[in-house]
Amino acid sequence: MTAQARIKASFPVRRMDFGFTDVPRYWFANDPFLTHFLSSLSSLFPEGEFFFVTSMRNVRELIEDPVMQKEISAFIGQEAMHSKEHKAFNDYATEHGIDVDFFHRRVGKLLKFGHKILSHKQQLAVTCALEHFTATIAAQLMKREDWNGQMNDPVMRKMWLWHAVEESEHKSVCYDTYQKLYKDYPTRAIAMVIAWSILAVVLADQQVRLMAKDGQLFNGKSWAKGMWSLFGYKGFISELALPLLDYFRPGFHPEDHYSDDLEQKYKALLKFEG
Ligand SMILES: [Fe+2]
Ligand SMILES: [Fe+2]
Repeated sequence: MTAQARIKASFPVRRMDFGFTDVPRYWFANDPFLTHFLSSLSSLFPEGEFFFVTSMRNVRELIEDPVMQKEISAFIGQEAMHSKEHKAFNDYATEHGIDVDFFHRRVGKLLKFGHKILSHKQQLAVTCALEHFTATIAAQLMKREDWNGQMNDPVMRKMWLWHAVEESEHKSVCYDTYQKLYKDYPTRAIAMVIAWSILAVVLADQQVRLMAKDGQLFNGKSWAKGMWSLFGYKGFISELALPLLDYFRPGFHPEDHYSDDLEQKYKALLKFEG
């Protein structure tokens, strides 16, 4: 075995194969709004993660460090597995009348357009911005047991927690690659503003469409509960404002947001060996 082959990434690629056939219609808190919010996020992952992987493949040949190369390979492996499992769930949801396939196709077109018009540096900057978003959400999902405990289906809870652990494990890979190659603060900050703005509009639009399609558009109780749960006092998203905004600090690094304890806790709970 060569010295290079002996080098290992700091995190593994876990092969998963969830079966969704028993997932109930409202698998989060038995509630339409919150279930649709998470299904809406899920609809963005397969194409979004393909964009992340492509933006890393675009530049990986410029990285000479063999350790970073291993990290990049493991990052690609994890994201590919996330795409596969979320696509399987999205297909299941679409078959059962929660039509997320339309969102999947629409965001795919948007991201393909991004590949066409953005430079490799800009694509990687968008990826870093969205990876900070996913890592921040992941840490929050692990931290907020009151939230992840509301997933009333064991398969969905396992899938989201597995994804959260791995987003946390690989949260620095894209950022370290970007810093190694470019170290361009204005581009990464602008990419953040644009990526988050588009994401906020897309998620709001998808939420309204899913609620309407499900005949829940005027379910005031579910809207009120969901909006409070996300944006109210100690809301799931409200609490993310500061860690998300920290990305604009010039000296920011993903590891400044410590999440090793949470990773260890959920790896043990999910019975992951590595
Ligand atoms: Fe992912
Ligand atoms: Fe990721």
